[in-house]
Amino acid sequence: MRILFVCLGNICRSPTAEAVFDSFVEVAGLSSKIESDSAGTASYHVGEKPDKRTREHGQRRGYHFKSLARQFDPKSDFENFDYILTMDESNYQKVCNLDSESIYTKKIFRICEFLKEREAQEIPDPYYEGENGFELVLDLLEDACAGLLEKLKQEFR
Ligand code: 4NP
Repeated sequence: MRILFVCLGNICRSPTAEAVFDSFVEVAGLSSKIESDSAGTASYHVGEKPDKRTREHGQRRGYHFKSLARQFDPKSDFENFDYILTMDESNYQKVCNLDSESIYTKKIFRICEFLKEREAQEIPDPYYEGENGFELVLDLLEDACAGLLEKLKQEFR
């Protein structure tokens, strides 16, 4: 099963989602069954490591960042992934619009649908925010990734 996390720049929120989710998948012993990746709808940061603040806040909680930024590719990503999880409404609309014939609608989700403990409609963009913005992203994504993994586990039963 292949999971793709999508934000705008692929240097803050979606790499955090990927790192948190991978860590949960490993703890659950499902690394051989579930793979993840991340991408941005924009190309500004292609080839870059995640933002320094993303890495610092994430590493403090024990997460590892493995990927370099890339842009979402409608030619391959819709086919190659089973779930496409967007961080905010703008990412969701952009990805839906790239699926111009609405062939892949059932694969595209707002990640906040999987929140269990917290309530939010979007993972707020932390890029122009302070330290608290990065901590909030981690808090929300830990909750949502736990909810997502719970749902995926049901598919293996
Ligand atoms: P991300 O955050 O979408 O969570 O990676 C951002 C990164 C860069 C920019 C905006 C948001 N930017 O405008 O360069």
